[in-house]
Amino acid sequence: MVTTFPPDFLWGTATAAHQVEGGNGYNDNWILEHTAGSPFKEPSGDACDHYHRFREDIAQLAARGFTMYRFSLEWSRIEPEEAEFSLAALDHYRRMLAACHEHGLTPMVTFHHFTSPRWLSASGGWESAGSPEKFARFCERATRHLGDLMPLACTLNEVNIGPLLDSIGALDPRRSRETAWYAAAARAVWSEPSRLVPFHFADSSRGRDTILAAHRAAVEAIKAVRAECAVGLTLAMEDIQALPGGEQAADTLRHDLQDAYLEQTTGDDFVGVQTYTRRRCGPEGPLGAEEGVELTQMGYEYWPEALEGTIRHAKAATGLPVIVTESGIGTTDDTRRVEYIERALRGVAACLRDGIDVRGYTYWSALDNFEWALGYRPTFGIIAVDRHTQVRTVKPSALRLGEIARTRTL
Ligand code: BGC
Repeated sequence: MVTTFPPDFLWGTATAAHQVEGGNGYNDNWILEHTAGSPFKEPSGDACDHYHRFREDIAQLAARGFTMYRFSLEWSRIEPEEAEFSLAALDHYRRMLAACHEHGLTPMVTFHHFTSPRWLSASGGWESAGSPEKFARFCERATRHLGDLMPLACTLNEVNIGPLLDSIGALDPRRSRETAWYAAAARAVWSEPSRLVPFHFADSSRGRDTILAAHRAAVEAIKAVRAECAVGLTLAMEDIQALPGGEQAADTLRHDLQDAYLEQTTGDDFVGVQTYTRRRCGPEGPLGAEEGVELTQMGYEYWPEALEGTIRHAKAATGLPVIVTESGIGTTDDTRRVEYIERALRGVAACLRDGIDVRGYTYWSALDNFEWALGYRPTFGIIAVDRHTQVRTVKPSALRLGEIARTRTL
């Protein structure tokens, strides 16, 4: 069946500052990467040098047929010390926004994508009652400088990432805080383990409340300066599926990881859905990968249909328009990526056919980049980046998704 997408549907790719810019030495993650005993496989270093090469990258995305580019502001560049704002950094992001407009790409700005200034994380970070106000002050300052070029904004990326990582066993904040590595990282920022709370480590209910309060305060701050800017948060959403007898476990998991956050989006302009895979629940609770199902580089089940389920759930839980702010796969086999994208988009099309207001699809990621603790091994990009020469190579998946974007046809 041929599927046609609406004329104003946004076709995007995404990146995040710390994963592509390079040299982000003022943020908390840089410290975690560089402290002895770090679980990070390698430091972020120069990343993709996108800080200097953004023009080339934006031009390439536009040439392929994309109409939107989602990128994040690095708060620690803009406010390297508390209440000390860098006009040079703000100007840099203004140039990025202008480059998007020049190339016909609608920019979507993420104000916070996991990394925070050291001074914030070291003083109670994302479990501190004062942080929402500090985040809102940054949003207000940045919107004053950038707002006229900023039609779309996400406050915080994946507000539920701490509890999600915890639930899949990828991070254990309590245990981490007891390690020599964490103690040394805390000392490096003149703090102590209990007061060093980067975004990923805020998995407690206090963390959730702090992050949601930061979202609400940020929406208010951005809107106060630029009412026309459409604002929302993004949520990491697995498609949570119940096996017979697993209904209650699935409901509990869905509540804790998704609904508790979706409930707090009242008044937002959209909800950003980010989906990579599904998770099954049996009578005993969440299950691992099903035997025989292909796994991605991340160890996730290859399950592109998960996106359709999460869009439907986000819509049902919020009533808001949905933007797919991330969907993607880490693989070395680009043919698997092409298939993943096409199958995920069939799910988006089914939602559109059912009248769900899905405004756009954003592939993660534009570039092969720094995949956090896993370093540069997982490759999510539709454009490959040579780590030594910084030479970019467009993959067939970029051509295919670009073609779908240009023709609006699958
Ligand atoms: C994050 C990205 C990350 C991607 C792939 C999302 O959770 O927003 O920063 O690289 O997933 O793991």
